[in-house]
Amino acid sequence: MNTRATMKYILSISIALFAQNLFAQSMEGNGDAPSPNHIRVEEYAARRDSVLHRLPPRSIAVFRSAEEFSRTSSAEFPFRQANNILYLCGYNGQNATLVLSPDSLTIAGEKLCAALFVPARNPQTEQWHGKQQGPEETQRMLHIPSFSADSLDTCVQRAFATATILYYDWLHPILRESLPMKEFSAEHEEKKVLQQNFPGIQNIEPTAPLVDSLRMIKSDAELALMNEAIQTSCIAHREVMKSALPYQYEYQLAAIFDKTIQDGGCEAQAYPDIVGSGPNSCFLHYSTNRRQVMPGDIVLMDCGGEYRGYAADITRTFPINGTFSPEQRAIYQIVYDAQTAGIAEVKPGAKFTAPHKRAFAIIRTGLAQLGIIRDSAWAHINPLTIPLDSVATGMNAPDVFRYFMHGTSHMLGMDVHDPNAAKILSKNEVLTVEPGIYIPEGSPCDKKWWNIGVRIEDDILVTDAGGKNLSAAAPRSADDIEALMKK
Ligand code: GLY
Ligand code: MN
Ligand code: MN
Repeated sequence: MNTRATMKYILSISIALFAQNLFAQSMEGNGDAPSPNHIRVEEYAARRDSVLHRLPPRSIAVFRSAEEFSRTSSAEFPFRQANNILYLCGYNGQNATLVLSPDSLTIAGEKLCAALFVPARNPQTEQWHGKQQGPEETQRMLHIPSFSADSLDTCVQRAFATATILYYDWLHPILRESLPMKEFSAEHEEKKVLQQNFPGIQNIEPTAPLVDSLRMIKSDAELALMNEAIQTSCIAHREVMKSALPYQYEYQLAAIFDKTIQDGGCEAQAYPDIVGSGPNSCFLHYSTNRRQVMPGDIVLMDCGGEYRGYAADITRTFPINGTFSPEQRAIYQIVYDAQTAGIAEVKPGAKFTAPHKRAFAIIRTGLAQLGIIRDSAWAHINPLTIPLDSVATGMNAPDVFRYFMHGTSHMLGMDVHDPNAAKILSKNEVLTVEPGIYIPEGSPCDKKWWNIGVRIEDDILVTDAGGKNLSAAAPRSADDIEALMKK
């Protein structure tokens, strides 16, 4: 690092520390308690209240933390908390159960509508894994009544005895350790056993309708965390473009991305890195990343960091030589135009499918104009003005679908594919707009187009003024990409 770079670095650190101090002071100043996830504990409480308002009388909702998965017989995958537990209370450990009931639960003589059960601290576990957050620490940090997981059994048995509706996520087999359904894994078996043991429970429902629509609308605090994940991921995409060279391996490009997001404070990738060069650019979710990138190849990188449980999801496609070939540029331009027009369809009240239909129409026209598909009518259409209702997509337009075989958007938030509980877009939702064209070898077109796969993906916030591109800091146009790669 030269002197100027060192000064800049020190300055940026000082600004970050100053900002953190301000944040901490503002928390102390108004008496709000910060949580480890930078979401105020009051916000978690308000989210739980919203769920409680949706719960009918004599019902109980049970949310279970994620489980640890084995990677080999002696190692586990890194733990990642279940989103709903993180969303409703911020607890970030295993073997936790959150119970909500509008009729209140009686625990240790107290009447409570919300209770969190977490493992008690254990000196032996701490010797191996470091300090744990037991019930006492959890209650102090997250301001939710917290109890030892050992007391879950009694508490829940009592609550189940009076409830008629249970909201429960079958994918995270809850309470296996404390209820007699231990031995059963199949959903219907669990339901049967549960209903045999607690005949008062008439309905067993999933928790999605309680939480999904809440999670769709992002609060200011959530947007700040998403912005952190997205801006750091944009810097990482830029770093890759600046240092990418022919003969590197795909995993080396992934490594630059990973190092940069971790330097920026992301805890993990939001999903496995997708780095497809040459022929691999035509696979949508290729994540083997072992091929050597050859001169002239196009590289598709779909990579996003995760920050405090919130995801970025960004795809950039660039030429390893730093300059697009005429064919690569032609395909790139169609996808770019499709994405630009798709983003322009994002606004409150628009249909969720609007960006896809517009992007699909533009790709259809573009492929027809290049002669990649035979479609003389569409080659002469203005795809920007055609009414969206008249745009056939998917298998209703099989020639186009051959080259653009996925949807254009999904919601983004704690999950890369966040829940989508509505067909109409609303303010403060975040969705991706990510059209693509993929032309593998052997496609029925001139072979000069073969092995070109292009996707461009950005993270778009729905605002009153339309779609705001949160990931615009990663160069998107062919010219901007070439300019950055020449630096
Ligand atoms: N990164 C996965 C996707 O774009 O949907
Ligand atoms: Mn995506
Ligand atoms: Mn993606």
